[in-house]
Amino acid sequence: MIAWIENADLSAKNSLGFQVTAERFIAVETLEHLELALKDVEQNNWPLLILGGGSNLVLKSFIPGAVIGVSLRGINVLADNESDAIVEVGAGENWHQFIGRLLEMGLHGLENLALIPGNVGAAPVQNIGAYGVELSDCFHSLTAYDRERAELVQLSKKDCRFGYRDSLFKSGEPGRYIIWQVRFKLSTVYSPNLSYRGLKDYIEQQGIISPQSHDVYRAVCEIRQSKLPTPDQIGNVGSFFENPLVPESTYQQLKQQFPDLIAHPDSSGFYKLAAGWLIDQAGWKGYKAAKVGVYDKQALVLINLGEGDADSLLKLAKSIKESVLQKFAVELRIEPRIYPA
Ligand code: EPU
Repeated sequence: MIAWIENADLSAKNSLGFQVTAERFIAVETLEHLELALKDVEQNNWPLLILGGGSNLVLKSFIPGAVIGVSLRGINVLADNESDAIVEVGAGENWHQFIGRLLEMGLHGLENLALIPGNVGAAPVQNIGAYGVELSDCFHSLTAYDRERAELVQLSKKDCRFGYRDSLFKSGEPGRYIIWQVRFKLSTVYSPNLSYRGLKDYIEQQGIISPQSHDVYRAVCEIRQSKLPTPDQIGNVGSFFENPLVPESTYQQLKQQFPDLIAHPDSSGFYKLAAGWLIDQAGWKGYKAAKVGVYDKQALVLINLGEGDADSLLKLAKSIKESVLQKFAVELRIEPRIYPA
């Protein structure tokens, strides 16, 4: 028997800060607890939501069934040699604190992903990325609970099928795996990734000639803080839309029509359009509806003005999508998960 919390308040467990009640909730720290909780879920046929840091989720006001929070902790070096190390981290560790620990340990590769809200277990789901780095760049493997086989399984990088803001866990087989521990391969020798123009410029403006990991870490934190709202002050889920990938012909057509269009070629031969720019140009930046709005420093981020809820946010998102479609003939895709769908 495990003790579910009935009518649990999840308002502090979603970064939008929405008032949300779950029919029942439990936080699990051990495999034994996870298995007991899943047994209840299966016996009762409850719909199930696995909750990480709640920073990429739009929760409706009432969540029927069960919510399981994974709280497994621990950061351990499994193997190291002169040039790299494999670090295993529990899904319940806070992502940004984990990045801070790696900095202290002198293990490099993920510093460009500093200050991304949420927990480690959620990071592979959407293959988090920022400032020229994606989680998959340093990913080694992970341990997940496979609900189909009812056991822990090991998944390699290939198994995880990472893409831009995508993975096996998001579009492949959602709901099948519960991420339990993630392993990263990190370098003991620092080689800065300054491929993101804004980061390189920022470092140069500071007069830093040969940037060390703590310089890049600090720069990323400062850039993020200047552009993105802090969730505990202003509820948000980071980018609300993906940057759309379009074929080169579409890009050329748009560029002719809108010479200021911001886009970057993608490794797959497509062009990634800056959705923030499209939304900004459609006039939405700083827009305020009754309960929700568009952040005034970054149009890609939708915010809770205080009394917001999923319905009002999705209504705003729909209007934004329609106006971008009308102006640019480009379809925006919502990036966070909406639950229940
Ligand atoms: N832009 C505008 N107006 C705006 C917002 C952006 O003109 O209101 C322009 C910017 O000036 C810039 C371009 O659009 O030239 C791109 O903006 P930015 O560099 O801020 O990055 P982004 O494409 O908006 C992506 C990620 C972010 C990540 C940053 C930095 C997605 C969906 N978003 O945003 O990730 O931090 O790059 O690498 O890929 C997240 O996923 O939650 C997230 C914050």
